[in-house]
Amino acid sequence: MSKAWDTLRSHRQELDGVTLGSLIDATDREQHFTQQLGDLHVDLTRHLATDRTLELLLNLAREHGVESLRDSMFSGQPINTTEDRSALHIALRNQSDRPILNSGENVMPEVNAVLRKMQTFCESVHTGTWRGFTDQRIETVINIGIGGSDLGPVMATEALRPWWLESLRVRFVSNVDPSHLSDTIRDLDPRTTMFIIASKTFGTQETLTNAHAARRWIVDAMGDHAVSRHFVAVSTNTERVAAFGIDTDNMFEFWDWVGGRYSMWSSIGLSIAMAIGFDQFTELLGGAHEMDCHFRDAPMSENIPVLLGLLDCWYRECWNCQSRAVLPYDQHLHRLPAYLQQLEMESNGKCTQVDGSPTTEGTAFIVWGEPGTNGQHSFHQMLHQGTTLVPCDFLVAASPSESVDDDRYDILFANCLAQSEALARGRDLDHVKAELEASGISEADVNALAPQKVMPGNRPSTTFLYRQLDPAMLGRLIALYEHRVFVQGAIWGIDSFDQWGVELGKHLATEILPSVIDGSATRGDVTTRRLTTRMDALRRS
Ligand code: F6P
Repeated sequence: MSKAWDTLRSHRQELDGVTLGSLIDATDREQHFTQQLGDLHVDLTRHLATDRTLELLLNLAREHGVESLRDSMFSGQPINTTEDRSALHIALRNQSDRPILNSGENVMPEVNAVLRKMQTFCESVHTGTWRGFTDQRIETVINIGIGGSDLGPVMATEALRPWWLESLRVRFVSNVDPSHLSDTIRDLDPRTTMFIIASKTFGTQETLTNAHAARRWIVDAMGDHAVSRHFVAVSTNTERVAAFGIDTDNMFEFWDWVGGRYSMWSSIGLSIAMAIGFDQFTELLGGAHEMDCHFRDAPMSENIPVLLGLLDCWYRECWNCQSRAVLPYDQHLHRLPAYLQQLEMESNGKCTQVDGSPTTEGTAFIVWGEPGTNGQHSFHQMLHQGTTLVPCDFLVAASPSESVDDDRYDILFANCLAQSEALARGRDLDHVKAELEASGISEADVNALAPQKVMPGNRPSTTFLYRQLDPAMLGRLIALYEHRVFVQGAIWGIDSFDQWGVELGKHLATEILPSVIDGSATRGDVTTRRLTTRMDALRRS
């Protein structure tokens, strides 16, 4: 365990008995605990941390080389050591003239060439120049992909609903459960439907199986020759795309230095550009680029992703927090928690450090959440009075995406403020008793009820407040989360860009499949075989 962690642990003891309310009320609280980037205001005042905590956390960052690892990422070093690759998603949204090097070679010319190809293609579909096999306009685009080839595009497309173009519907299919594809195409006409098959490897079982099913739907309606007008691919693997039967002229490339969960900025974002138009997609990239510049250049003590990542590590290690709730007070961000689950848990849910030794601290949070105010009528009870400390992220725009002439949005906003205040300050026993006495109930009832109504408080949260959830703001927010995860990984000493933990399950599924298909129940361990037999009996009965 490092010296910086030892100091932080002792410091943590000093905070016993200190209330979050008293920290928030300190006169100079705002100075170090609020940050601003353009229209994005980040309020950290409701954290169980003092100026001294920040100082010690910044020492921790120095001790763990966060700045030099960040610089290595920006300069294209192979920081994804277990796969011997760089992690250059920052190049995908680099809107400056600055070259970005991968193994000494500037990747920007090929990044920009793919962006131009995406733009031309989007425009041809939007204007109706691109026609289906029967010469009809494309009315619906369906992205088939899973994990990073689905979650980012779904989240961003939902978030940017107000920017959807009227001429085109965009839908998503990820699950190999046949109902996902069937439900998605039920009301569609194959003659006006196009599929984007999105897979970095073009080897993912679920995606390829769904792609073949979609292909059958198109071929059954129009024959084999229709495939080239109704399928495009997004991948790093040209051979497999060709083997599937998609014309590689209709393939949008990206590169092995883009991690799947960091790929929505690449051609994996084609479905986003289809939904909102290429100009708005460029705005999204621009917002992310702005956050990249901030992360690269801002001093550590004012660096938003650095501060957030360090606070995460503080809660995980010194407050034994296991989970973090993401609570967008923004219906359009309803898929943000699912997106962040992959980003955070696939990146940092690891127990081995880069050097092969076991991690010495707890790693990734369990990330979960729902839009407010819905969550308030569900799990917020546990956030307020449960026995587990769950730091929360509140996200809210000053202005709604839809203009309204009533007070619904003000109600939403007030609830967001109320929740973080209630979590932080709670209600002590004396206060609760005074309120109950004022309501006129008997002393016995006051004494019986009061303990139930005590709100412990001291529950931390961050509030992200922005003018409006437009493409650029979404870009800033998502890049902010990416870099926050990067900082966590640097502190925990893990490779945030690999995902070896998903391999065993994939391998076993392939091994077990034949005995599921023929019902022989001969593969897997004793429980797997018993369940396969049971499944087979249920299917036959
Ligand atoms: O199984 C995990 C994973 O490899 C993710 O990291 C990735 O985003 C997803 O599968 C999909 O992979 P692909 O884009 O290669 O189909």
